[in-house]
Parts: sequence; C-alpha cells; structure tokens
Amino acid sequence: MPGTRSQYKAKTAAAKLDAPTIEGIVNYIKKNDVKRIIVMSGAGISTDSGIPDFRSKGTGLYDNLQKFNLPYAEAIFDIDYFMEKPEPFYALAKELYPGKYYPTKTHYFIRLLHEKGMLLRNFTQNIDTLERLAGLDEDLIVEAHGSFATASCVECKNVADPAQVKKKVLKGEVARCSSCDGLIKPDITFFGQNLPKRFFKRLHDFSEADLLIVIGTSLQVQPFASLIDDVPDYVPRLLINKEKAGDHHTSHSGFDFKWKYGKKRDALFLGDCNEGVQKFAELMGWKDDLESLYNKEHAKLKSIWEAETLAEKVEKEHEAEEEEKQIEKETKSEDEKQHKEIEALAKVLEEKLHIPSDPQESKDRSNATSSSK
Ligand code: APR
Repeated sequence: MPGTRSQYKAKTAAAKLDAPTIEGIVNYIKKNDVKRIIVMSGAGISTDSGIPDFRSKGTGLYDNLQKFNLPYAEAIFDIDYFMEKPEPFYALAKELYPGKYYPTKTHYFIRLLHEKGMLLRNFTQNIDTLERLAGLDEDLIVEAHGSFATASCVECKNVADPAQVKKKVLKGEVARCSSCDGLIKPDITFFGQNLPKRFFKRLHDFSEADLLIVIGTSLQVQPFASLIDDVPDYVPRLLINKEKAGDHHTSHSGFDFKWKYGKKRDALFLGDCNEGVQKFAELMGWKDDLESLYNKEHAKLKSIWEAETLAEKVEKEHEAEEEEKQIEKETKSEDEKQHKEIEALAKVLEEKLHIPSDPQESKDRSNATSSSK
C-alpha cells in the first residue's frame, strides 16, 4: 500500500547517510529499524573459494577459454552454440561442478544477516550453489542465472537425475535424455534463454527493501544489473567490490558515490569482499558471530567431504577387488574350458588315429610295437 507524500518526504529525509562508506551504512542501520536487506551478489564472492569470476583481467573465466576454440568467450554459455557443440560447456562444467568448493566468509555473512533477522532475499548471479551450501534456505535465495542444482533436457524439458548428470559430467561425458536422446543441460540460464520464473516472481521484494548491499559483481549483465535502481530512492545502497561498478552517469539511475545529485544514499567499499563483510560485521558488533559461524560450518563441511571421499575411496577399492575376483573366476573357467576342449580333442585323436592321449601309454605301445618287430 503506497504511503502518503509526507511519509515519503520523511523517509527520504531519513535516508541520508552521514558518509558514503560502510561506516555510514552501519550508522544508518543503528539509527533506523533496518530489517529487510536485499543482497545482490556475483562471481566475486566465490573467487576466494577457487572459482574464477568471469571478467577480472587475466584470471577471469572469459580470459581463460582459449583451449575450447570458441568463436567468442560467452559462447560457452550460449544456448545456440551449446546445441551445436555441447562439449566445451561440459568440459567447463567438469571443472566448476559443485562438490569441491567451499562457501566463503561472504556467503556466511549473508547467512548471518538472516540469523540476525535482517535478510529479505539474496539475489545471486552465481550458479555454484555456494549460498545453499552455506546453509541459506532456498526460499531466501533467488538464483537469477539458475544453477547446477538441477538439470533437464533441452528438447523435451524432461527433468534429469542430478546425481546421474553429475556422474556423466565428472567422467567428461555429455549427458543425453533417457526419453528423447536430447541434450541434458544443468538448469543454468544461458545467453538466449529466459531467466527462471522465480526471478520475476520475487522482483517485488525490491519495493519492500530497506537496504541494498551489492557484492562481488561488475553489474555488466541485464536484467540483473538494473535491479539496483528498483529499490525506492530513499533506500541506501552499498557496493562492496574490488572495482567500481554500476555507477552510470545519470542522476536517476546507477550508483552516485559522490552524492552529486543530492541523494546521500550510496556507499562504497573498494576491496576484497571478505574484508568488506568482516569490517561490516565488526562495526555491527558481530565480529565473533561471523568468525565462529564461518569456522564451525567450514570445519563441518570439510569433515563431511573428507568422510565422503574416504567412503568413495573404500568403495572404489572394493569394486577393484570384486573386479579382480571376477576376472580370476572368468580366467579360471576359461582355463577349465580350454582344458576340457583339449581333453575332448585328444579323445577324438585317440579314437580316430589310435594316437593315445596319455603320453605314458604311447611309450608302452611303442616299446610293445618295436619288441614285436
Ligand atoms: N572481492 C571483491 N570483488 C571481487 C573479488 C573479491 N574477492 N573477486 C572479483 N571481484 C569483482 C571483480 O572486480 C568484478 O567486478 O567481482 C566482479 C565480478 O564480475 P564478473 O566477473 O563480471 O562476474 P559477475 O558480475 O557475477 O557476472 C555476471 O555474467 O557471464 C555472465 O552469467 C554470467 O552470472 C554471470 C554474469
């Protein structure tokens, strides 16, 4: 229900930060009852886990795809190119498949916002599912570009078994649909495809937000990038990123970190996102909460994965032993079969050509023949 003009004026007046910094944002939070924060995140929050982002010079994925001989870098996520040549994407998927990358401190910071009762939603562009792995309930996440969590046939849309798809991908094989033999693709939004329905269903969250935090994204891809302008213009916005992003040069859209147009609402932390969220947590008095959440959850996940790896190793050894036993059994039965065949052949020879199959008998015979001459 829209408010009145005076309510709007009061809110706009209240939205003045005292500085375009994380300190300015935290002071604002402490003075106002901020409870509905939207976090918009990108590949920059996963680089510390070992997953490259897309556009960082030199290290970004798009600078390291030469081996796939693509017509252009983003072809690896282009639906038409995938239909023609699925192999490059599958090879990349093998490198990026979830199950060996840990959530970063930034992922746990987003979870901590929820635990403090202040997170409305996390809109992420990332497909690595690290937000889920960090323990965020999927209702709090909008995976704007889909994710590896599910997979389906590009032809008949048949839902594929994610475990089977993962097995194929990790073996370097292209998965095909069991009912129509079409190509199976993880439900990642490729260029040329629509964003998931959930993205559009949750867009109204931005009208309800009372703070926007944008972390680890170059804000190059639409329609995600322009979401920063979807929060009411009295809502403060914080960018935590290694480089400036989203600062268009018009007064009505994009970040205005210099407050040139009068709205003292945008703040910037230029640097590593883990350092930025750590500073935010310290200023909020949550330093120990973030540390202990991260350390506890990271250790838990590490022990689960180590146990799984050990179990897989034991299973592989067991399978190898079984295989060996089977080969032994088959060789033995092969030997027995051959032995029987030789015996049968010897019998035939003995009957047809009177050649005794037993060497001793033939010796006795030849002695007997020679002595009778
Ligand atoms: N701390 C802070 N910022 C970082 C860090 C870090 N540790 N690492 C990288 N960054 C910043 C980079 O400087 C860059 O501005 O994160 C941003 C990552 O930008 P991109 O590589 O463009 O990734 P993203 O914005 O998520 O890409 C959006 O593009 O190709 C599509 O679908 C793909 O979802 C992806 C979309």
